[in-house]
Amino acid sequence: MTAGSAIRLSGVSAYLGINHSHLQAMNIQTAINLDDIRTLAKRRLPRIAFDFIDGGADDERCLQRNRAAFARYQLVPRYLRDVSRCDQTVQLLGRTYASPIGISPSGLAGLWRPDADLMQAAAARDANVPFLLSSASNNALEEVVAIAPDHVWFQMYCTTDEKINDDLVQRALRAKVSTLVVSVDVPVSSNRERNRRNGFSRPFRMTPAVVMEAMMHPRWVLRYLRTGGVPMMRNWEPYAPKGANAADVADMYGTLTPAPMINWDHIRRIRDAWQGPLVLKGLLHPEDARLASELGVNALVVSNHGGRQLDAAPAPLDMLPAIHAAVGSRLDLILDSGVRRGSDVVIARCLGAKACIFARPSLYAVAAGGQAGVDRVLQIVRNEINMVLTQIGCSSFASLDSSYLWPDNPAAPTLAANPSYSRA
Ligand SMILES: Cc1cc2nc3c(=O)[nH]c(=O)nc-3n(C[C@H](O)[C@H](O)[C@H](O)COP(=O)(O)O)c2cc1C
Repeated sequence: MTAGSAIRLSGVSAYLGINHSHLQAMNIQTAINLDDIRTLAKRRLPRIAFDFIDGGADDERCLQRNRAAFARYQLVPRYLRDVSRCDQTVQLLGRTYASPIGISPSGLAGLWRPDADLMQAAAARDANVPFLLSSASNNALEEVVAIAPDHVWFQMYCTTDEKINDDLVQRALRAKVSTLVVSVDVPVSSNRERNRRNGFSRPFRMTPAVVMEAMMHPRWVLRYLRTGGVPMMRNWEPYAPKGANAADVADMYGTLTPAPMINWDHIRRIRDAWQGPLVLKGLLHPEDARLASELGVNALVVSNHGGRQLDAAPAPLDMLPAIHAAVGSRLDLILDSGVRRGSDVVIARCLGAKACIFARPSLYAVAAGGQAGVDRVLQIVRNEINMVLTQIGCSSFASLDSSYLWPDNPAAPTLAANPSYSRA
């Protein structure tokens, strides 16, 4: 359909009261919100792949809790303030970013689209926001940092092998990574039941029904076969025997992680070896936040791994006030898990976060549309933040505070201490 005929059709349709929206297939550019981007990815990916990204642990209650936490807050607008320009720049770990958002780390992104790590890094660079590259990426740390040196932070898990842990830090130093992130919330592989039902494990054990369903997504399947199937985890190739293939390297990675013996001594060792900004990702307890601060950690990603680990874990947003009270004056707090709207980012800021990051929307986007998809996700959230700031009469994201918040339940324990709620 040409643009002209689409306009004529919509004009006639409006006159006759007919809705032709089903004729106009949604794409990345016409996606209105992050949920639309998820819908596009669901169409593009076989269920086994979509469920791997979308799913959580056990009953997926944590997944729901993450979203429900944001819905418990309302924002009280202030009017008659000049909001003709709203500033959403943010200072994080000594750098200025254009927006208080970033892309959380995710392993195996090359499965959704080859070079997905490079595409996410390029989108983050172009939007001037951080991209946290997972050590379980498919593109190698060195090549990703090379295209976006000011925007790529490197996220590692500690393994069972101290030499490899030390070497990962040294490689990050050599590659001139600005910021090192250590994820601490995977002491054990969790129970992700969607993956188990679909046979997403090593080795792949796909049921005939899953294979049949995958054939309904031929573009993804053809590309997967054309590019050689499961992509190589490039960061781990150096530690595998010469000539190891992608499956061998994945198996080796599976023997090195998770590493349940990891403790504060390992973080101390990394702190000694790494002089740049150090971030811990996955803490939820204020006491752990205090221990991190004492060790000289510079920032925390308050996160429950997007509901993919401990299903009984609280929503990070609900822990944020207590963590902020414990360490907020010393450490930058970044909120992760369930962020889907500009208003979520604003609410998190009112509770003490400097910025928010998200993973799934970026993965849905890269699957559905490559870098253009991730560009679109960042643009949507940026625009939403701007619109919310304008509506609540706050011209500077950095100046947001709890006076803008109104809770659904003003008596909730984490909120009762807020003087804004005791005015009535
Ligand atoms: C497919 C997938 C892979 C992930 N891999 C990693 C990883 O390698 N390292 C890590 O620290 N977190 C990983 N995460 C967790 C994210 O970084 C992030 O904490 C979480 O997904 C945030 O929730 P959201 O996706 O709802 O925004 C992964 C998440 C997904 C969805």
